[in-house]
Amino acid sequence: MGAEIIAATATKTVYRDGDKAIKVFHADFPKAEVLNEALITARVEETGGIKVPKVLEVGVFEGEWSITFEFIEGKTLEQLMEEHPDQIPDYMEKMVDLHLSVMAKQCPLLNKLKDKMARQISDIEELGDSTRYEMQTRLDSMPKHTKLCHGDFNPTNIIVKDDGTFYVIDWVHATQGNASADVARTYLLFCLKDQKKADMYMDLFCKKTGTAKKYVQSWLPIVAAAQLSKKRPEEAELLNQWANVFEYQ
Ligand SMILES: Nc1ncnc2c1ncn2[C@@H]1O[C@H](COP(=O)(O)OP(=O)(O)OP(=O)(O)O)[C@@H](O)[C@H]1O
Ligand SMILES: [Mg+2]
Repeated sequence: MGAEIIAATATKTVYRDGDKAIKVFHADFPKAEVLNEALITARVEETGGIKVPKVLEVGVFEGEWSITFEFIEGKTLEQLMEEHPDQIPDYMEKMVDLHLSVMAKQCPLLNKLKDKMARQISDIEELGDSTRYEMQTRLDSMPKHTKLCHGDFNPTNIIVKDDGTFYVIDWVHATQGNASADVARTYLLFCLKDQKKADMYMDLFCKKTGTAKKYVQSWLPIVAAAQLSKKRPEEAELLNQWANVFEYQ
């Protein structure tokens, strides 16, 4: 059976080949990042209790690095939300519950979220020295936790099987750290597409966990700055605005 393309970005292409999903990284993609993604996914898989596609193989496909995962047959939660807008409240509820089940896990060998964010913030030159310094100070003062954080938890990274089981994919940004920081990131990712969904998500998380909204919001400028370091052009404008809100807080 020939492989068919199921998703493509500027740096990678995902193919389906029977019961396998093959993520192929373009030629100039750093090898260490490919191996890191496979390692992080394997660590999460070994944690148990979270439905993730198993890593089957790391290799080279037509001269490019690739990771082969178990293929999860279903639709992304993003597709489902588009197809059934009337069910969005129910999907949101399930997505928050899924997020909570991830955060309930510990994965002690992953990098610390705070260390990663500190590195990312120091890399963002466009923010200016004094903003970066203030942000590092704020980051230092935030509570240290060791919860499993996905790092890119959004509906494109959730696959729902026909039997209703939710799988979480794309673990490359996973770390251990503060759950509210991970929720702040999901909120920002929703904001880039749909403010209403973002607010729904924030409200549901805060209600279910008894977390003060202000606390999650206090992470927003820091998370926005860290997210800027991913250099996704479509995110730059909004993230810059959020990162600069910091100065007024
Ligand atoms: N194991 C899998 N089973 C089924 N579909 C998959 C699988 N892995 C990826 N896909 C499909 O490919 C899409 C992109 O995959 P993935 O999220 O891993 O990469 P990405 O979003 O390009 O990566 P990044 O967010 O790191 O830039 C997913 O949204 C999903 O539709
Ligand atoms: Mg993805």
